[in-house]
Amino acid sequence: MLNKLVLTGARGNLGNELRAPLAKMAKALVSTDILPAPDKLLPNESYVQADVGQMDQIAPLLEGADMVVHFGAIVDEKPFEDLLGPNFIGAYNIWEAAHRHGLRRVVYASSIHAVGMAETNGGADTDTPHRPDTFYGLAKCFSEDLGRMYWEKRGLEAVCLRILSCTPEPQNARALGTWLSYRDMVQLVQRAVDTPTTGFTVAYGVSANSRAPVSNHKVGFLGYRPQDNAEDWAEALLAKAVTPDPQDLAQTRLGGPFAKVGLGQSGIAALTAMTRGKSG
Ligand SMILES: NC(=O)c1ccc[n+]([C@@H]2O[C@H](COP(=O)([O-])OP(=O)(O)OC[C@H]3O[C@@H](n4cnc5c(N)ncnc54)[C@H](O)[C@@H]3O)[C@@H](O)[C@H]2O)c1
Repeated sequence: MLNKLVLTGARGNLGNELRAPLAKMAKALVSTDILPAPDKLLPNESYVQADVGQMDQIAPLLEGADMVVHFGAIVDEKPFEDLLGPNFIGAYNIWEAAHRHGLRRVVYASSIHAVGMAETNGGADTDTPHRPDTFYGLAKCFSEDLGRMYWEKRGLEAVCLRILSCTPEPQNARALGTWLSYRDMVQLVQRAVDTPTTGFTVAYGVSANSRAPVSNHKVGFLGYRPQDNAEDWAEALLAKAVTPDPQDLAQTRLGGPFAKVGLGQSGIAALTAMTRGKSG
């Protein structure tokens, strides 16, 4: 059992799912987010409201911790200036504070958008080079490279989880490949924390989907064995699928709608429109 774990983005959709399982892995869990504390905390959980983009707010929380699970970020494409503090400087602050306080590992919520311009049918694996589709994806590339550099220069381990589409249920035909169930997401983070030695590792956050467009075959040592498969929803989702179009970047690139939007324009809005069947 670890002594102390820190979880950023603890008020978010995924962070909230992680609080209870992470609390079981450490004597103390420190949850943090830019939002105020939740109504109820777990018995060994404390909460600090902090902006990850501000070193003086975030660094003290990491003192005495074994690991930090860094999920706090703006989760959409926006103008670069909007992402600079939370997503770029925030990642630097986490890695630098982890180094200063002698943490063993950073577990990081990266994203498929780090390789979002790679072809869906290209057989992407964990060595696929960075090909961001947005400033949001670029921040994930920056953070992964930061993680690799801090491992190689300073011996701080990192496991970067390139999450695809983590939702309670798969939302659209694209998600037949990209879905990550909540329970598989929790298992992936648990393995990223409890695998004894990871060095610098990239893994995809995807369920055991028959149509997954990415492969974790090089990171079997993490012991991540997903339980869910979006194929169970195939009939319903294919019935709502958009007209196939090989010229449509939203269909042909791993980033889906994010690969199609202009830089600085919301990818979530495009994703929502796609899910409602309004566009490709
Ligand atoms: N949900 C997905 O499918 C998905 C896919 C790929 C990557 N991710 C990554 O997983 C992480 C969690 O995503 P989510 O779906 O739970 O999103 P979310 O928006 O629900 O959670 C993000 C949390 O970060 C917090 N936050 C934002 N700016 C902050 C700041 N400056 N300081 C501190 N906290 C801040 C928000 O308040 C929020 O609670 C993110 O890093 C996201 O990029 C998620």
